[in-house]
Amino acid sequence: MAGSRILGIESSCDETAAAVVERRADGTGVILADVVLSQLEDHAAYGGVVPEIAARAHAEALDRLIEEALTRSGTRLEDVDAIAATSGPGLIGGLIVGLLTGKAIAMATGKPLYAVNHLEGHALTARLTDGLAFPYLLLLVSGGHTQLILVKGVGDYERWGTTIDDALGEAFDKTAKLLGLPYPGGPAVERAAQTGDPKRFVFPRPMVGEARLDFSFSGLKTAVRQAAEKVAPVTDQDIADICASFQNAVSRTLKDRVGRGLARFRERFPDAEQPALVVAGGVAANREVRTTLQAICDAGRFRFVAPPMALCTDNAAMIAWAGLERMAAGLGPDDLTVAPRSRWPLDADAASLIGSGKRGAKA
Ligand code: KG4
Ligand code: ZN
Repeated sequence: MAGSRILGIESSCDETAAAVVERRADGTGVILADVVLSQLEDHAAYGGVVPEIAARAHAEALDRLIEEALTRSGTRLEDVDAIAATSGPGLIGGLIVGLLTGKAIAMATGKPLYAVNHLEGHALTARLTDGLAFPYLLLLVSGGHTQLILVKGVGDYERWGTTIDDALGEAFDKTAKLLGLPYPGGPAVERAAQTGDPKRFVFPRPMVGEARLDFSFSGLKTAVRQAAEKVAPVTDQDIADICASFQNAVSRTLKDRVGRGLARFRERFPDAEQPALVVAGGVAANREVRTTLQAICDAGRFRFVAPPMALCTDNAAMIAWAGLERMAAGLGPDDLTVAPRSRWPLDADAASLIGSGKRGAKA
């Protein structure tokens, strides 16, 4: 079979994105164009993503971004083999904008449409960037999700762990807000932590030691608030110490949770020659998180795969690639009546945990 070329559209949260990606006959992929417009500035004043503002911004920018992706990749619409658009999970207004645009293009051009699960986009990115073979373990750590997922094949996932309350990125954002640091909180907390003492405060590490692989971060946020109140008024040094201690607690939690995940993978696939852990999501930008994951992998003799940052955070190249993978696996295309879904777990059998993915907006 000759290669296939797909136009991808992403609009599930606060990034509007379009990409053109090709999958060659040998199964390798190449990104021909990848355009992302962040709405960060539109939402910064509110300290979080405002769904109505996000939906409007997607509607305003998407056409232009699609044109730009086509132009940059030297592709005419009639030359693509299919359209892939995120249809969930995420903020419903944005999903409607992206999916309807995808449907309209599919209808006008007579091309097939792939309605892609945003989480599947994150899950399969490492196959585009590193040609990773199944099975592998994925740690997705973003503003809306904290999940440990066994990736067995295209459309074949097992969720091994998820957060029972806040997502890890959310914990970073809330910690930053409590300390008066700017939004998004992750980079601000990381910066402040550089000059802090990670041992000054001993923060809780919920779930550590438990056999189930779930996460919990709301207790950590409460402990941060109590520490800040205790030393109030906080100095810059207090803030730095709290941030460093927070990151220390996060690292130790990850060490335990992910470490157990790797052990479970080994038990399940004792013959896997090169088992791998993949990280995705905005929190993967954090240097301490990366160093911790690398150390866990070194200790467990796992390969650690961290795709380039631009492909760890939300983008349309991963959506295009997931569409191509589905196409190659014979899964799809979707009917044009397919509906957007604000909630859409990758693993349909996974029990929904109270409070997990509360924001449901970001992945
Ligand atoms: O994947 P992402 O860009 O958007 C979605 O959530 O979909 O992730 C954003 C999250 C935010 O919570 C942000 O604070 C966090 O990733 N983040 C970080 C860092 N950079 C971004 N967290 C910790 N350290 C960072 N350097
Ligand atoms: Zn995402």
